[in-house]
Amino acid sequence: MPDIGNSNRISRGYIDSLYIETRYMDSTNPDTAFTLYGETFASPIMTAALSHLDHFMFPGAGLALAEGAKAANAVLWYGMADDAEIEALAATGARMIEIIKPYTDRDKILAKIRHAEGLGLLAVGIDIDHPFSEDGGPDIVDGEAMTAMTTAELAGICAATKLPVIAKGVLSRHDAGRCLAAGVRGLVLSHHNNRIEYAIPPLAVLPEIAAIAGDVPLFVDCEIKTGMDAFKALALGAKGVCIGRPLMTAIKQGGADAVRDYLNREKATLGKAMAYTGCTDLGKMDPAVIRRV
Ligand SMILES: Cc1cc2nc3c(=O)[nH]c(=O)nc-3n(C[C@H](O)[C@H](O)[C@H](O)COP(=O)(O)O)c2cc1C
Repeated sequence: MPDIGNSNRISRGYIDSLYIETRYMDSTNPDTAFTLYGETFASPIMTAALSHLDHFMFPGAGLALAEGAKAANAVLWYGMADDAEIEALAATGARMIEIIKPYTDRDKILAKIRHAEGLGLLAVGIDIDHPFSEDGGPDIVDGEAMTAMTTAELAGICAATKLPVIAKGVLSRHDAGRCLAAGVRGLVLSHHNNRIEYAIPPLAVLPEIAAIAGDVPLFVDCEIKTGMDAFKALALGAKGVCIGRPLMTAIKQGGADAVRDYLNREKATLGKAMAYTGCTDLGKMDPAVIRRV
């Protein structure tokens, strides 16, 4: 399969095309503490909504992600999983956001939300970018069919729970506007690990979505690897970032401890970027420190 139009490569290139202006005068030590949905964490660098790790990697890999996130006091996002796996992940004590698939069986979405409520998860979400398969037909994942969400259905889901509902997989003002109209309390700008070639890089579309999102937090994933990448996203209007495949590499290398160390190291790098740019308050980031030349 040729690598033509690979969205991960394109997103990486875009992130690397962004430069950081320094502002040392009158700068101070930064505060990376991050508050989301009323709870405070060490930094806005979180895990991405990975899934099937025990299958793709080894038994216990999913738990290692959760334990590492807990040890770093970072938010744990997780993707498609049965109730028992979600319970085991939540039992690590990590504060968790569960991203639920756009199951054709909408009752299953609601049942999973009720389950998340019962476990006291931090939030739930739907990866709205997973309804179609590679030929444009309905996606089938683990034998379960998917269907694109309508704005009305998403609004019904948001109204059906007190948990914040997040839409993951937004890359346009079109989708952002509809999800916001439906009442979501967060958007993840993402192409979901190259689900479509030539996807606009999340950071390229971030400013125009930030302009219409108001107080609704925006999150970014896809090729976010370091605290420098995180800083660029945060300066451009994201509230937080999610790291996926690099944490899978960390799990392979050293399990939960390596996940913790990765998140802590990149939190420190984020702090460096904040101090060196005078953007020491996550609530008052200045997009003008990011330059494209
Ligand atoms: C093994 C694997 C499983 C994933 N499972 C899910 C999932 O169930 N739900 C979801 O919304 N995203 C899922 N994703 C996508 C990630 O959340 C993320 O959007 C993507 O990996 C881009 O981030 P990255 O470049 O840091 O890996 C998965 C990604 C990987 C690599």
